[in-house]
Amino acid sequence: MSIPFSHPSLLVKQLFDLESCTYTYILADPATREGAIVDAVNEQFDRDMQYIEELGIELLYVIETHVHADHITSAGRLRQNTGAQIVYSEKAQIKSIDISVNHGDELPLGSYIIKILATPGHTYSCISCYIDGMVFTGDALFIRGCGRTDFQQGNAELLYNNIHQKLFSLPDATLVYPGHDYNGRTWSTIAEEKQYNSRLKLGISKQKFIETMNNLNLALPKKINEAVPANIECGINFTADRYILKEFSIDQLYQAWLQKKSKELIIDNRTKEEFETGHVPGSRNIPLGTEDQHIDILQEFELVYIYCHSGRRAQTALTHLSILGLDNLICVSHSGMPDWIKSGYPVES
Ligand SMILES: [Fe+2]
Repeated sequence: MSIPFSHPSLLVKQLFDLESCTYTYILADPATREGAIVDAVNEQFDRDMQYIEELGIELLYVIETHVHADHITSAGRLRQNTGAQIVYSEKAQIKSIDISVNHGDELPLGSYIIKILATPGHTYSCISCYIDGMVFTGDALFIRGCGRTDFQQGNAELLYNNIHQKLFSLPDATLVYPGHDYNGRTWSTIAEEKQYNSRLKLGISKQKFIETMNNLNLALPKKINEAVPANIECGINFTADRYILKEFSIDQLYQAWLQKKSKELIIDNRTKEEFETGHVPGSRNIPLGTEDQHIDILQEFELVYIYCHSGRRAQTALTHLSILGLDNLICVSHSGMPDWIKSGYPVES
């Protein structure tokens, strides 16, 4: 038996995952009890289900603001348990979802409407959700910050344009609920962010923003190799041994190179020029951005190892190829050719 709702307006529960600093939001129309959950985290599945059951919410939508790299979603499990439909941006090209959305699409929620705003830049498929004077910004706009733009087809210029055109154009009083916060902050307003966001406040030029974003030099998220492929499958039907769950190191690549079988391929996805100055012997050069042209060949191998200079480009290719359906990929995501050379392993040029 669920308790009666005492909320006069849309119910918003802001929930936090301590490990990934992710905010999950449960939204519900108190009159109809129809609800949605935004950016649910796998480890918090029981907590979220408990709220949904206790409050008697009929979950209609499980919305993912983007393909997360720092945690695995519970979207698939929530769908299984509630019958809700999984919502992603159409640009994410994820097959196992129910509703793919584009900018301007609307999802009815009781007497409310969730309006989809396409806000790519952190990733190419990021969306924000506007409802009843609130905007859930995922990893586009944070409180006094924004999502990084250095992997998963991130693009600083795109992020700047989208935040300015689609978020800063909302009424000043709009409440901003981000996908993460690392300093204990919970919500903000569009007016506050326009005035105080250290990266994006009005007056900061696009050029300055791009410069800042391109020089953050952040480490890749620890769980990226695990989270991205799992999230592409909505967190279910995900068999861990199909992917390398921990960082695949350059030493492991060396071991794989030593024992390489005919059904295995090593790809160097740096530029042709970088490749020619020295690469892993026997590796094939498929520069980042050209992997689509080689899908048929890549599919023929049981295992495909990808490395680059620092791991970023390899990780970007892994994400892209995983979305296209390849599940034979192993990525050296936190290291690359300089470490191979430093370790004294053989180099071909
Ligand atoms: Fe993210």
